[in-house]
Order: sequence, then C-alpha cells, then structure tokens
Amino acid sequence: MAKARIAVMVSGGGTNLQALIDAQISGIIKSGEIVLVISNSHTAFALERAKNAGIKTFSITKKECGSQQSFEKALIDELEKENIDLIILAGFLSILNKSFTDRFAKRIINIHPSLIPSFCGEGYYGLKVHEAALHKGVKVTGATVHYVNEIPDGGEIILQKAVYIRKNDTPETLQRRVMEQAEWKILPAAAEICSRKIIENKEI
Ligand code: GAR
Repeated sequence: MAKARIAVMVSGGGTNLQALIDAQISGIIKSGEIVLVISNSHTAFALERAKNAGIKTFSITKKECGSQQSFEKALIDELEKENIDLIILAGFLSILNKSFTDRFAKRIINIHPSLIPSFCGEGYYGLKVHEAALHKGVKVTGATVHYVNEIPDGGEIILQKAVYIRKNDTPETLQRRVMEQAEWKILPAAAEICSRKIIENKEI
C-alpha cells in the first residue's frame, strides 16, 4: 500500500521531529513517510536533524516574504510541489491563517505541550506554557495532539497524555519531562493514526 506523504514543519530544536524520524525507523510510523521538513528559520537545528536523516528541507522566513500572505503562498507552493498528504506542526511557532488551514482541512496536526483546553491559544508556546502551568499550581499537565483549524490550538483533539508535576519542577525540568513522557510518544502515534486514515480513504 502506498504511504501518506508527510511534511513536518518546525521552528527550533526539532526533538519532536527526531521522535518522528526515530518512529519511522522503528516501524511505529508505517503508513506514512516524512518526505519534507519545512522551517521558518534558516538556522533551526531541526534542519540538521532532517539532513542527517536524508530528508529534503525547505526554509523560508516571513520577513523575507514581506507578508503573511506571501509567506503562506511560498509554503503552499512547496507542499503542493511535494504532493503532501499530511502536515505535522512539530514546534512550528508561527500562526497560520484560515486560508491556509482551510486548504488543508483535517490534513494538519499539531503537538501542544499542555492538556488542551488548559494553557493554550495565542501566546502559549514553548516554555511559556510550562511557566503558566507552574504559576497556576496545577498538579497534572501533559501534551495534546490536535487537528489544526483557524483557531490557535482549537481543532479536534486526537491524542492526549498526562504528566504529573513534581514539587521542585522548574519550567525547564517540566518541559523536558512533558516531552519525554508525552510529546515524543503521542506525536508519532497520532502521525500513524492520521497517515493510516489518509491511505485507507485513498484506497476506497
Ligand atoms: C515542543 O515542546 C512543542 O510541544 C512546542 O514547542 C516545543 C518544540 O520543541 N510547541 C508549542 O508550544 C506550540 N504551541 P522541539 O523543536 O524540540 O520539538
């Protein structure tokens, strides 16, 4: 059976991208293949991870495009050129407009480092999410994979995993544990679920 063609979009270190690459090698992801990594920063370490895995990369900044619209047009052109079936936002920290999310409805998924609907939406990304969880004093946090629509972190939830907060946690220790215990597990699992759905629908 043909595999779903996956593009992973990144902005930074790319540990979630690495988890996806490793899951592809170990067979956890078997219905899809990562064929493209897109970054909105030319210096993201995630690009090195992609190159080491022999995956095609494309990087472009919003600044060099001049506007959100032409930035998104450049992304769409690249995604269409590669016939992408599934887009995975793995630490992609730029918000996408409705015209973009509508074009790929139910074909974009995102990993967010909290249990949505807590600590999510515009302004909640990276360490800020964990700072907010610790500030609120919640005892349990976690990660969520969801479909992406025009509402930041507002699309249908696919998978979630809880992580207990420890008394001495800092935003950094909590971020690391949420990644290890939740993100790096549920993102590959969701990638497989969505890839399988896509190829099954194609076969009908
Ligand atoms: C991850 O923790 C991811 O959940 C988060 O950014 C980090 C990227 O790390 N994403 C968001 O906060 C999205 N709102 P990585 O580059 O090492 O995968």
